[in-house]
Amino acid sequence: MTASNIRPLVAGNWKMNGLKASMVEALVIRDGVDDPALDGVDAMICPPATLIMALSEVVSGSKVVVGGQDCHVAQLGANTGDISSEILADAGATAVIVGHSERRGDHGETDALVRAKAVAAYRAGLTAIICIGETAGQRAAGLTLDVVNRQLLGSVPDEATAQNTIVAYEPVWAIGTGLTPTADDVEAVHAALRQSLIARFGDEGRAMRLLYGGSVKAANAAELMSIANVNGALVGGASLKANDFLGILAAYRA
Ligand code: PGA
Repeated sequence: MTASNIRPLVAGNWKMNGLKASMVEALVIRDGVDDPALDGVDAMICPPATLIMALSEVVSGSKVVVGGQDCHVAQLGANTGDISSEILADAGATAVIVGHSERRGDHGETDALVRAKAVAAYRAGLTAIICIGETAGQRAAGLTLDVVNRQLLGSVPDEATAQNTIVAYEPVWAIGTGLTPTADDVEAVHAALRQSLIARFGDEGRAMRLLYGGSVKAANAAELMSIANVNGALVGGASLKANDFLGILAAYRA
């Protein structure tokens, strides 16, 4: 498999948004992605943990899959408020986001912890969506490639394959701000990440999905998704409304 025939994925990260009533949006997404013109793209929704079971039932039988937003490294135990990859899988998740910059920032998560969480995801049979990305200060200092390569090296486990791992490049300054890097900047980062993945994992690294995330919306999806080595999107704000989310998937219309 070469980089160019990697099947794209658009994943919605609902973050701390979503109530039972949000299943209405999920139904619209489920029916919308059924459009044969969208056969070439996969879709995922990562709701709050409380909605994983309900959402899994709503989308069952469709190509929409469900992911968690974080997991603990342990399988079970005295870890109040945490959730394990096994519990996510039991509820119907097939993937889990790890190392999102909001987790790294708000909860002090290090590359080593993110890597351990990815290993925990594999243990439960989940795909780990491993997030990396530089801050505005790091970009201004010209450190972007150093930072993302260090995060990639530190956060992606040796056991990673194209099947069990997705890497999401999300510049911290682009998340929820309406700002995006230029297409050239995204291309440069994704090219560097691809090179690092190939150097470390060979053909598995060549076939691994590399998502872009940070203020993706329907209006900029076609441009961002057409960049070399961008194999889909991780979407926050614009994944909360079905029609906005479907508008992003439309970047892959046949
Ligand atoms: P955003 O969030 O699309 O709202 O910028 C992206 C993310 O945090 O994954």
